[in-house]
Amino acid sequence: MKNLIIVDNPLIKRDVTILRDKNTQPAEFRYALSRISFSLAIEISKNFELEEYEVETPLEKTKGYKLKYQIVLVPVLRAGLSMIESFLQIIPEAKVGHIGLQRDEKTLKPVDYYYKTPNNLHQSITILLDPMLATGGSAAASFNFLKKNGAGKCFLACLISAPEGIEKMNNEHPDILIYTAALDRKLNDNGYILPGLGDAGDRTFGTF
Ligand code: PRP
Ligand code: URA
Repeated sequence: MKNLIIVDNPLIKRDVTILRDKNTQPAEFRYALSRISFSLAIEISKNFELEEYEVETPLEKTKGYKLKYQIVLVPVLRAGLSMIESFLQIIPEAKVGHIGLQRDEKTLKPVDYYYKTPNNLHQSITILLDPMLATGGSAAASFNFLKKNGAGKCFLACLISAPEGIEKMNNEHPDILIYTAALDRKLNDNGYILPGLGDAGDRTFGTF
């Protein structure tokens, strides 16, 4: 599939299994989700450009590096919140925006209720964080918002994707590279990913 990178290793496979298991309780669910988020953050960071500068060790001067562009992390409320801490731990200088979206259960279309991002998106690298890419409606709407507000280079980090969502993203936002920990089979009639993990927001926050 185009513009899709599946980030996979034995620890991710174990953690995706913990997420899928219907008996996993919210605390364990959040830990597994944040462990996978570390791996996603590291993989995405391989795209970052560096700027060289001189640093002085206690012994002598040497070449050092810093990130060339500001990084902006944008979790999609609610479920994206459990990915943010892992990304911030390895990119502490990142700024954080928020997008509030909720899928209408009947139409499956995203309904927006909050939008706040830092300035200068056009000079930043923006990473949207959302564990689920199902119909792709929420991700596509989020990137519409971000681009309308000037976002340039963007990535999407998610845990579980459906082919339908990847296709929508490829059609509507072909410039966005998607990083996912698993590519699942398809959506069911209610727009849930199969085999999936159920409702990511509910399982993260125990609202079931
Ligand atoms: C979930 C998920 C995504 C969206 C994906 O959020 O976190 O944002 O569904 O579905 P889509 O690709 O079909 O748009 P949800 O709407 O359940 O909101 P919540 O996180 O507040 O529970
Ligand atoms: N949102 C979720 O939380 N889970 C799905 O399977 C689809 C959309």
